[in-house]
Amino acid sequence: MTAVGIDAVEIWTGNLKLDLPGTFAPEKGEDPEKYTKGLGLNASSFPDSYEDIVTMGANAAHRLMERKGLEPDDIGRIDVATESAFDNSKPVSTYVAGCLEQVYEGDFHHANKGERKFACIAGTQSLDDAYNWIRAGRNRGRSALVIATDTALYARGDDGEATQGAGAVAMLISEDPNLVELSAEQGYGSADETDFLKPNQQFPSVDGKRSVQVYLARMREALEDFESVAGEVHEEDFVYAPFHTPFPGMVRKAALLAFRHVTRDTEVEDELADEIGRQPRPEAFDSDDDYRDALREYMDLLKDTDRYAEWYDTTIDPTLTISREVGNWYTGSVHVARASALKHALENDRDLAGTKLLVGSYGSGAQAEIHAETIREGWAEEIDALNVDAQLAERYEMEWADYEEIHDAHNHEMDVDIEEFTTPSEEFVFDGWGRMGERKYRYVD
Ligand code: HMG
Repeated sequence: MTAVGIDAVEIWTGNLKLDLPGTFAPEKGEDPEKYTKGLGLNASSFPDSYEDIVTMGANAAHRLMERKGLEPDDIGRIDVATESAFDNSKPVSTYVAGCLEQVYEGDFHHANKGERKFACIAGTQSLDDAYNWIRAGRNRGRSALVIATDTALYARGDDGEATQGAGAVAMLISEDPNLVELSAEQGYGSADETDFLKPNQQFPSVDGKRSVQVYLARMREALEDFESVAGEVHEEDFVYAPFHTPFPGMVRKAALLAFRHVTRDTEVEDELADEIGRQPRPEAFDSDDDYRDALREYMDLLKDTDRYAEWYDTTIDPTLTISREVGNWYTGSVHVARASALKHALENDRDLAGTKLLVGSYGSGAQAEIHAETIREGWAEEIDALNVDAQLAERYEMEWADYEEIHDAHNHEMDVDIEEFTTPSEEFVFDGWGRMGERKYRYVD
């Protein structure tokens, strides 16, 4: 069976930066280490006044098409995953195609376009849709463009404010891909939850502490469901485990649970038994509460073992490098984590072809998906083409007053017109409103 998966990826960050320990923490009267050590974040990316989900998505897609030498005829499908959409009818993918048609001779009239919504997991669902479309033989040799784009802004003063971010990831899904092959096996954990939602409002209503627990519960279910179809997962099966990263501290919690799960009944559990005892089993306890207390105690000890620390440093920490500098990109976040891990491998001369990733996606509301990806021969060349370091370094660093202004400018309920902080170059920009309330865009050379 021909492999189907991600052929190429591009990342586009918002052009502004907010330093969390240096600028945000003092204004909030908080210890900077709450952000750097607790949440695990150094900075957030923000959109400048001329940027939004369309410009960031179109810019990522344009860079990807240019680098791969693609024309509109090569693309049979454009799916945008976002939870920051501004129209309940016209999908963001039509705007993105409109932007791209300004710079290509051909058009995308033949391409099936859509928009996917399920909080942050929609990016992965769009990948699945593209995979299924190709596997069903409906693609006529063409590739799919999947774009995950969000301005992940919270209301001022919300606990989530520190985890904001803005950026887009564009991915080309093809037969015989260069980067990773997607597995046919998937595991799901899905339940009707009210942890994070936006009932016809721009900024989310969030039950932050509960959202952390829901994330962990759905991920555990998804892992068990994945094992029911793909067989037991063990730590040595995967080189990296990119997870949805609302902030790195969240992944730190998920990683500990995952490590316990994948080492149960293995030599690693035996190895650790002298130091911290064996993992508690529910049948050995009189009540659920006693079992949970014992589990908590075991996890506290596990966290401090060299064995766990070593696994975390090699398998998880490299997935968080970019996220630490940009914050939560919602739908793009897990795809940033994948790129971050592969970039780390390239910088450390690791030979990854044929090895596997365990990818954990999550969206509030809530659903988790676990699947495996096999790294392809062409991965290093694809990752080497990313210019994310330069993009991050070139962001304009905001003062506190700049941040307050730009947050207001992007607030749909406010009518604030501000000067741009950066000068756009070779990118699509927002260019005002049309007669039916549509957004207009133009390309700046
Ligand atoms: P908070 O209450 O302000 O922070 O917000 P906190 O007091 O819980 O502190 C955070 C961590 O920093 C804690 O670590 C503290 O101990 C530590 P933990 O105990 O949890 O390991 N800390 C320090 N560490 C070192 N030095 C210090 C210090 N002070 C504190 N001085 C909260 C945290 C997550 C609630 C908030 O950021 C929030 O509401 N975020 C938005 C919701 C969210 O991101 N949830 C994550 C799971 S849901 C999800 O991922 C889906 C999502 O992406 C949306 C979607 O799917 O569409 C959000």
